[in-house]
This record gives sequence, C-alpha cells and structure tokens, in this order.
Amino acid sequence: MCAWILLLLVGVSQNDLPHPQAVWATSPIEIKLVFNRALTPDEQNKIIDSPISFLTPSAKKDDADSPRGTLHIAGATPDDKDGRTLTLATDPHPWNTTFTLDLKGLLGEHAPERFTSYTLSGVEATWEPDVPADAQPTLTTWWPCLDLGQYRMSVGTLLTTDQLQFVKNIDGSLGRGRLTLRTSVGPFAKDQAFDLICTGSLVLEDVTVDNEPAKIDKAAGKARLQIPAGELPVEVAAFIKKGQNLDARGPLLYLITASEPVESVRSGFTLPWAPVRLAADSAAAIEVPDLSGGDPAKGEAVFFGQAAKCGDCHAFQGRGKQVGPNLSDVGKRELSWLYRSIAEPSAEIHPEYVTFTVSVNDGRILAGTVRALDAKQIQVIDTGAQATVLARADINEIRPSATSIMPVGLVGVLGPENLRDLIAYLRSGGNAAAAK
Ligand code: HEC
Repeated sequence: MCAWILLLLVGVSQNDLPHPQAVWATSPIEIKLVFNRALTPDEQNKIIDSPISFLTPSAKKDDADSPRGTLHIAGATPDDKDGRTLTLATDPHPWNTTFTLDLKGLLGEHAPERFTSYTLSGVEATWEPDVPADAQPTLTTWWPCLDLGQYRMSVGTLLTTDQLQFVKNIDGSLGRGRLTLRTSVGPFAKDQAFDLICTGSLVLEDVTVDNEPAKIDKAAGKARLQIPAGELPVEVAAFIKKGQNLDARGPLLYLITASEPVESVRSGFTLPWAPVRLAADSAAAIEVPDLSGGDPAKGEAVFFGQAAKCGDCHAFQGRGKQVGPNLSDVGKRELSWLYRSIAEPSAEIHPEYVTFTVSVNDGRILAGTVRALDAKQIQVIDTGAQATVLARADINEIRPSATSIMPVGLVGVLGPENLRDLIAYLRSGGNAAAAK
C-alpha cells in the first residue's frame, strides 16, 4: 500500500466551509495543509492552536490509557498565490506515527472533516531548473513513493499550484533540470534488492544507499538498490537529470523488485528527515527502595529547594515552572513508576517532552525540549531550564534524542530521607484539585 495522505472529500457539502484536501509534513516542525479554496485571514487564524494528537509508537490504538501526546500549531501562513495551501508551524514531531489534526476551531464540532490524519511517510522531491526563473523556481514537494506514476495520480487530486508546476517541469519538453528524490526505506527483516528504473527524458545520474553509490546500468536506465536487513530505515537518494532526449513514451520512473510483490515495494517509504524512534539504554527492571513514612511538608521544601530544583522545571498544585510536565497528578500513579521517573528520567520519556538536538546555521548545537512560539520562531529549553529562542529559518537540523533533559543522579543528590519526604509530598497532592 502506498501511504496515501490524501483525504478525499466525504461528499457532504456543508454550507461554504473550506474542505481540507490533503496534509503532509515538510519538516519536523512544519506541515502543509491544502484546502479546496483560499482561506480568509480570519479562517487562517482559526487553525492556530488546533491540536495535533498522536500515540506513542508502542501504544495500542483502542486503549484510552496508552500514552498520547499533543503538538500545537503556532502559525498558519498561506503558501500559494491562490492561498489554498497553508504552511502550519508546529511543535516538533518526535517520531513517525499517525498524527491527527483536529480542525474543530475552523470547521465546528460536528463537521465530518474535522479530523485529518497523516504520517511522516513519503519521498521528498526537489526540482532544480537548469535556468532558474520566476516561472521556473526550485520546487520541493511530497511524493507518496518512488514512483512518478503515483505522484501524477496524487497531483490529479490535489492540484496545488506548486505540484502542478512540478509535473509540468518533468513532463514538458521545455524545462530541463535536475530531480532529486530522498527517502528512507525499510527497515526490512531480510536483505532486499530493488531496481529504480528511469527512462524517456529522465536519466539516472547518481543513486546512493546510505551515502554509498549504488550500481547503475546507464544504458538500461536502471539502478540496483541493495538494502541490507536491519533495525533502522536505510536512506536512499536518487539524482536524476532531465535531458534533451525526449522519448515518445515520455518520462518514466518507477521501482521494481523481482522477489517481492510490487505492493510491498511501494510501502515503507519514510521522509528522509523523519525521526527514528530511539530507545533508552536502561530497560532493566529497577529496584524500588522503601519510600514510606516521609513528611509532605518537608518534601515541599525539597521540591522547591536548590539541591533538587524540581520546581525549576515542574509545576505542582499551581506552583513551579512549566519546563517539564505538571506533576499534580503523578501521586495517583504507581509508586514504582514515580520512583523510576526520578531515578531514571530517560527510561520512559513523556511524549510531549522528548529532547531534541537542534543544530543552528551559525554552528551552535542546542539540546532540550522544543516548543513552537509562532510562525517564525521556536524555543529550546535545556537541562538547566534555560530558554533560547531561535528563528525557524536559522535551523539547520532538528533530531530527537533518547535522553530526557531531566538531570540524572537526583536520587543520590537527595539521599534516602529527602527522597521519602519528596515522594510523600507528591503523593499528598494526588487527589487534591490540581492546578491545570
Ligand atoms: C531541568 C528540568 C528538570 C528538573 C530539574 C527536574 N525535572 Fe522532572 N522532568 C523534566 C522533563 C522535561 C520531564 C519529561 C521528560 C521525561 O519524561 O523525562 C520530566 C519528567 C518527570 C516525571 C514524569 C512525569 C510524567 O508525567 O511522565 C516526574 C515524576 C518528575 N519529572 C519528577 C521530578 C522531580 C521529583 C524532580 C526533582 C527531584 C525533577 N523531576 C526535576 C524536567 C526536569
């Protein structure tokens, strides 16, 4: 199955509300949302703050208790000359799972099209014309898989200005340029071999698998992709030239395999930048000491004290900061979970507080939790609870990491007595009306 992220109209014509037609991600902190018509500024504003909810990859879909997270939309900027495509500035997507955007604010509670889902699957395609001009700028778009035919089909439904132009560039007899396709495939349990085939006016120049050149048979227009079995997806990049040599059949580009059914070849494309889920090192069961008999009043002093600094990052019952999750309800959870959260912060990271490594164009590398501030800026909060504001345009790369920003070694810093008091404090508030 090719992961279609197209949402075809449900066929209900509801007064003149705009209809969402497609959504896809263009970077870890940005998605595109296409409507059937241009949105007014007021309608654009109604999309800001719409929640995008997601399950952790290990969660079970129907289990209400499975960990869920929410990303926020901090900016909606019209993209096209016709205003139908919006660029939405979001919090970072922590891994590849299903994300569900709820457009209740724009479409109302009862609209059948209120929920729109997407994943981080697909191929990033870039067209660079030989002679750039206004009419022929460099374009980057989303393909469902490494197959021009599939892309044409998706464009047939979408018809955004950029996508139509992209197809014209590839099909037309005038525009010459370079097509770059980047994606990750797999992971596969067995070694796989695929042929990427390119004919007509499209000429394969270079193909790499995990940055190593693949074997190309230029006469046949064929590149052999050897994908080794493994645990992680493998990066594939194809550099294709559109030459003079126009073939009567027109340009063709597709992927085949001799050993697998075609459908399985088409599945499992992930956007080249999509985060891979990283597991923390420590999976071993933890021994929980006797934590009973603490004094909640003393625990409050520990929580807001200078040794542990819990209150610099966490709010509890309306006091403290919001760098990490609000802890007002953690007292209701199992004691072993609570102890582990303090003793081994990275063992199970809250889905909304994943740490990202952000590399900035000026050479800085920051690590911390990341929040979208608005259409132009994000904020990174580090292990010292310090916030740095960065312009989205200055970000070179943003990748999740497997470690929490919560300090390690807190159990040792506190000592057994303070820890008991702290636990007593956190558990004392579990049933009281929590702030937020
Ligand atoms: C520098 C900031 C920082 C400090 C200091 C800090 N934490 Fe955290 N804490 C976090 C972040 C961020 C998370 C969420 C990521 C994760 O799950 O590790 C977290 C997660 C937690 C969780 C799990 C919450 C959940 O809902 O998953 C608990 C419990 C917790 N911290 C307790 C404490 C206690 C108690 C202290 C003080 C002894 C403390 N933290 C100090 C940043 C901090």
